[in-house]
Order: sequence, then C-alpha cells, then structure tokens
Amino acid sequence: MSDTRPPGGSTTQTGSPAPSDRNSLTLGDTGPLLLHDHHLIEQMAHFNRERVPERNVHAKGTGAFGTFETTEDVSAYTKAALFQPGVRTDMLARFSTVAGEQGSPDTWRDPRGFSLKFYTTEGNYDLVGNNTPVFFVRDTIKFPHFIRSQKRRGGSGLRDNDMQWDFWTLNPESAHQVTYLMGDRGIPASLRTMQGYGSHTFMWINAAGEKSWVKYHFKSDQGVKNLTQEAANKIAGEDADFHRRDLSEAIERGDFPSWTLHVQVMPYEDAKTYRFNPFDLTKVWPHGDYPLIKVGTMTLDKNPDNFFAQVEQAAFEPSATVPGIGFSPDKMLLGRVFAYADTHRYRIGPNYHQLPVNRHRVEGANTYTFDGPMAYDHTGDQPVYASNSYGRGFSDLTGPPEDSWETDGEMTREAYALREQDDDFGQAATMINEVWDDAQRERFVGNVAGHILGGVSEKVLPRVIEYWKNVDEAIGKRIEVAVQEGQATLPAPHDTEPEGVIDDPTSA
Ligand code: HEM
Repeated sequence: MSDTRPPGGSTTQTGSPAPSDRNSLTLGDTGPLLLHDHHLIEQMAHFNRERVPERNVHAKGTGAFGTFETTEDVSAYTKAALFQPGVRTDMLARFSTVAGEQGSPDTWRDPRGFSLKFYTTEGNYDLVGNNTPVFFVRDTIKFPHFIRSQKRRGGSGLRDNDMQWDFWTLNPESAHQVTYLMGDRGIPASLRTMQGYGSHTFMWINAAGEKSWVKYHFKSDQGVKNLTQEAANKIAGEDADFHRRDLSEAIERGDFPSWTLHVQVMPYEDAKTYRFNPFDLTKVWPHGDYPLIKVGTMTLDKNPDNFFAQVEQAAFEPSATVPGIGFSPDKMLLGRVFAYADTHRYRIGPNYHQLPVNRHRVEGANTYTFDGPMAYDHTGDQPVYASNSYGRGFSDLTGPPEDSWETDGEMTREAYALREQDDDFGQAATMINEVWDDAQRERFVGNVAGHILGGVSEKVLPRVIEYWKNVDEAIGKRIEVAVQEGQATLPAPHDTEPEGVIDDPTSA
C-alpha cells in the first residue's frame, strides 16, 4: 500500500507520523474497527479526557497577561519586592462571573471575579478579589451554603430566585453586597470598565517589621460603565461571550486596558478600637477615615496563546503571599487560604503549580514536595527529607510569623463581637441614599422588583420587603409598591407559548 500521507501531516503522541486523521483502520470498507489502530484509540481515549472539571464557582471567565508597575513609594508600608518604586512585575489577570457555568452568558447579573497573579521575584503573589469591595457573608462556613443557593436546585436543576432571596434574607449581613449587586454595578458593560478590589483587609509589613492593615482598590482607567438589565438581557441572547470577546478584541487591536492601584492603609493599632470591625468583609472603610494612596498601574497587553493551558488551568490562591504581605483576622480570608490550593489539587491535579501559567519565577527555589501525578520538576538525588546532613537547606523559623496579630480569649464559635457601629444595613443605606443619584435609585428599585417577580414565593416575599425596609424604610416601600404593581401585570406563568414560536408544517 502506498503512503498517502500529505507532507507535514500530523504525528502520534509519541512523535511518529500518524497514519490518518480521516479514515479509521477497518477490516474491509464495511468491516469492524481494529483495536491495533493505536492512532484512532489514542484520539478517542484522549478526547474522553480532554476536560478538567470546571471551577466550582467563577467557572465562566477569561484572562489576559500584562505588567504591574509600582509608580509610587509605599515602602513605608510594605517591603514586598513588587511594591517597591519602579519595579515592574509580569502578571496574569482572570475576570469571571460567579454562579454561571462555563457557557453561561457574560451579562448575567452577578459579581465579577478579579483575580490577579503577580510573578514576583519573591514568589507568586495572588490577589483573588471581586469587582465589589464587600461580600455576602462574613464567616467561611456559610460560603458553600451561599453558593448552593445561587446555583441550581437539587430537583429541577433550575436556578431559582426564591432560593437566592431565602438565603439573603436569612443572612441579613448580605444586604450591603446585594445592594451592590442590584445596583448598576451588578452588570458591568465590559471587563475593562469595572473596578477591582482585594475586598478583604490584608496586612502589609515594612522593612522595619512595622505592620499596617490595607485594602486594595484597582480603579479602571477606562472609567466605570455598566449595562441596564434590558440591555444585558438582549446581549445575553445574542452573544453569551460578550465580555470575553470585548477584552480579547481590545487587546488584539492594541487598546490595552489599565487599572491604577490604590490602597487604604489603617495603622495597626487603629483596628483594635475602630468604630466597626475593620476585618468584617461586609463593610467598606470610609475614604474620609482612610484615604486612597496611589501605588501603581496594571496594564493588560497580551491575550493568552491558548485558553485551556493558560486560563482554564490557571490556579489562583489567596494563600500565595510574599514577604511583606500577610493575612488578617477576616474569617472569610482565613477560610479561603485553605480552599483554593485544595480545589486546584482536585480540579487540575496535585502538581498544578508546575504548569507554566502557575509556575513561579524564583531562582533557586527549594521545595520539599515531591513526585505525584505528572511530576515534571525534580531535584535529582538531593535529600528528600529535612533536616539532613548532606547540604540541602531547609527552613526553621520559630516564634510568631511576621504577619502575626494578637488574639485573646478561648476557642469559641460565635460571630465577631459587635462594636459601636457594627450593623448589617447602615452601609447599604449610605450607598443608596448618599452615593447614588435618583436615576440609580430608580433602576435599583426596578432591578430588585424584577428579580423578586422572577420567582420569589409568598413565603419568602414578606421577609424580602422587610429586609429592604431595614436598609431604608422609603426604599423598602418603593420596592413593595413596584412588586405589587408588577404582580398585577404579570403574564400567566408558562402556560402560553412565548412570542416567536412557529409551527413546523413538515409532516415527516
Ligand atoms: C470562604 C469563602 C470562599 C471560598 C471557600 C471560596 C472558594 C472558591 C473556590 C473553590 C473557587 C474555585 C477556584 C478554582 O477552581 O480555580 C473560587 C474561585 C474564586 N473566588 Fe472564591 N471563595 C470564597 C470567597 C470568595 C471571596 C470573598 C471572593 C472575592 C472577594 C472570591 C473570589 C473568587 C474569585 C475571583 C475566583 C475565581 C478565581 C479564578 O479566576 O480562577 N471568593 N472560590
């Protein structure tokens, strides 16, 4: 039989010329497939394995590479190498929605993930935040329950507004974040026109060992632009990848998006007596108390060469910190420090950090983790145990870590102790009444009422109205009226065909 492979044809996984990508090997042209057609078997078997599980949350997203440049001097607050004046650090950003699956529309109302990986000279620094400065709950143990309430029902597999409002109203600390979500910023016009936040309070430590508490704010240099619910609904039906496409095309045409990083810095001692708990993730720190301090600029200028290798397998983890940056007593942050590396071990595999997109850029790194599935890095015949007598270094710090903080009291299970101005509703009310204008308030009322009319049950509805009246009596009343008016005009549920259904006249 003559060799009919075209020149430059494909190869097998072992590198030899592949026989055919168009015809399987059979016994005669109608005969059975032959098991020893290993190229066919390889194609079929690998295809069966070509996905990794999608992220449990934030499954739909997109990413781009770029640089962070520290333009200001913040060395009084942190010794971290990446935040020293003039330092430029390669980075990766991934933006995402939270509750939707991989193929879900980019313009569904949802917070947006704002994940950053800085490949610093001291190890990777990951800041895995959102486009909102607050969150729905303040204790890690509530997170899986919260996410389940936003995803799909166990029975029908449908998303369910009733479930969402049931959870939110039973956990009123969600009010501030739900206000954000139902406001204009709940649907960004593009990933380039949204702000990013580290959200949690973190610790910065300077070269003298002095500690401060910080919050990160990435301000879009493109300005902030959002979509109305109506526009978002329309786009969702026409282009589910609207945001992914916009970012990719902007970078492709050289219109590189950038964000200016500012931090709020709270002196370490202030946290002990501040008027509300500064580690509570449902709160912002008023800028009047802690003004924004400029740090530098992040610019995204390179699209991924390969989406799967560089975005799907990208693994961000709040546990990835560097000297000069630490955690805080925020009970959400501390839970996240566990969760992400653990989910990566499951989703990608225990050696996920060896993949090029996740690999650190530190010369002379010396890890004592070995082997496992797909191990690529190795340390030859160096000792695999510490301590050892054969010259392989190991770490041996004792005493408090540099990012330690004082605690007192016994082990306990209870909410943060309340301070003078700790409550669930005050900052939500401030946003509605003091930050927004009339048009924003009007759209907010419409968004909330529309969401409620999308399926909240009689059982949950009174609690939803009360929730908003607790935030602000007047706004709660407006929502109540809008829901009543909407209920009066609601079409009968699902017993009529939607507009645009056409009969198929073909009989066969
Ligand atoms: C205790 C609370 C939380 C837990 C247990 C948790 C857990 C997770 C998990 C398991 C993932 C999937 C990661 C992956 O498969 O790669 C994820 C993704 C993510 N989470 Fe959280 N999360 C929590 C709270 C938060 C908060 C408060 C924020 C933002 C302020 C946040 C932002 C993100 C982002 C941006 C991603 C996507 C990461 C990426 O781009 O790959 N999460 N989270």
